[in-house]
Amino acid sequence: MSAKLRIGVIGDIVGNVGRKMVINNLAHFKEKYNIDFVVANSENASGGFGLSKKNANELLSSGIDVITGGNHSFDKLEIVELMDIMPILRPLNFPQNTPGKGIYYTKVKGEEVAIINAMGHYGININLDNVYHKLEESIIFLQHKNISNIIIDFHAEASSEKRIAFCQLRGRISALYGTHTHIGSDDFHIQNDSFYVSDIGLCGAYDGVIGMDYKIPLQKAMQGYGKGRYEVLENGNNIFQMIVLELDHGKCKSAFKIKKINDKELENIQAIKLES
Ligand SMILES: [Fe+2]
Ligand SMILES: [Fe+2]
Repeated sequence: MSAKLRIGVIGDIVGNVGRKMVINNLAHFKEKYNIDFVVANSENASGGFGLSKKNANELLSSGIDVITGGNHSFDKLEIVELMDIMPILRPLNFPQNTPGKGIYYTKVKGEEVAIINAMGHYGININLDNVYHKLEESIIFLQHKNISNIIIDFHAEASSEKRIAFCQLRGRISALYGTHTHIGSDDFHIQNDSFYVSDIGLCGAYDGVIGMDYKIPLQKAMQGYGKGRYEVLENGNNIFQMIVLELDHGKCKSAFKIKKINDKELENIQAIKLES
């Protein structure tokens, strides 16, 4: 007999503001909800672009067990040497010969768990392999290995691409959740024992534009050009958000979303269960 697993999944952690929200809150929520394992997307954790070695170590010490990435995975190249020795993923459909890995295997409470990081195509300026073929191959491989706890971070701009992958895989995976837009969506549900949400939403600054100061994006939007690069918004309201999945032999039986804005913990929202 094996125990149920509780897995926390976190979307894009943006800059020092996002890191601070995770570092200050994760241990508390892990204890409060008996969370066994945490996956978090850290492609924007260092200054909004990429992940430094120092911040990777800091996040892995804060209670995160596996780090996922996306189109900003390689913005800070120093991370490459850690990708082979630490639980740091980049999307599995990056071209052949890209450093790093897109799947991570581990054991949680004696059960085998696979974390997959995938990336959609729309609006992503990288020459990726077809994400649906890559996912199909991976799921068939995991089924052969009898691994049923399968968690997928699908990093993509378009919710339609994430829905296609969920429809392709539901019933064969534990969860597929979106990252990249930084905006949490309220479509979380469980169907065929698989969890889905189009985007978890960021941990970081809440008032600007996807965690960044609005001034440069506004100037660029109004003039068609602008100098400087996006900067993490340092002041105002901050958010921590995480989804907790309860898995039983790979099947997602329940899930809920935790949200905290500044010091205020909001009421958790349960995922609804849809008929198959
Ligand atoms: Fe992001
Ligand atoms: Fe992204």
